[in-house]
Amino acid sequence: MERTLGLIKPDATAKMAHGPIMTAITEAGLKIVACKSMRLSAAEAAGFYAVHSERPFFGELVEYMTSGPIVAMVLEGDDAIQKWRDLMGPTDATKAGPETLRGRFGTSLQNNAVHGSDAPDTAAFEIGFLFAGRELEALSR
Ligand code: RTP
Ligand code: MG
Repeated sequence: MERTLGLIKPDATAKMAHGPIMTAITEAGLKIVACKSMRLSAAEAAGFYAVHSERPFFGELVEYMTSGPIVAMVLEGDDAIQKWRDLMGPTDATKAGPETLRGRFGTSLQNNAVHGSDAPDTAAFEIGFLFAGRELEALSR
């Protein structure tokens, strides 16, 4: 059993795509063990994406991620990290197939509707960044 962090990004919440995205997650066999909506401050968005702080698109990324509400989810299942990345599709939404969430709800390289952790260590960091221990402890079996 593995856990990963998923986000519904501001472009997707603006489209009210919450429902179809969560349906796709559960249909892929992943469990949504925690879920909350929030609006990130610039400092929070910069901290979350700190790994990209030296990249030329960092400023635009922080602006995008703070442009509206997001939904943060902890997803659980066998091979959850890869399963969620496969369901999201490639980073560039214009190159994502219609069976992927980025193909369905994203519009560009930046505005790509969803986020997913890319490895066990980043999943642990991102879950800890956005969720308090008590929000997860109560859900473990
Ligand atoms: P994410 O972390 O959001 O799940 O996306 P990812 O792994 O597929 O892509 P990553 O390389 O980690 O990039 C993080 C987010 O930054 C935006 N981006 N903009 N303008 C650009 O060149 C550019 N490249 C990436 C996207 O929103 C991407 O998801
Ligand atoms: Mg990434």
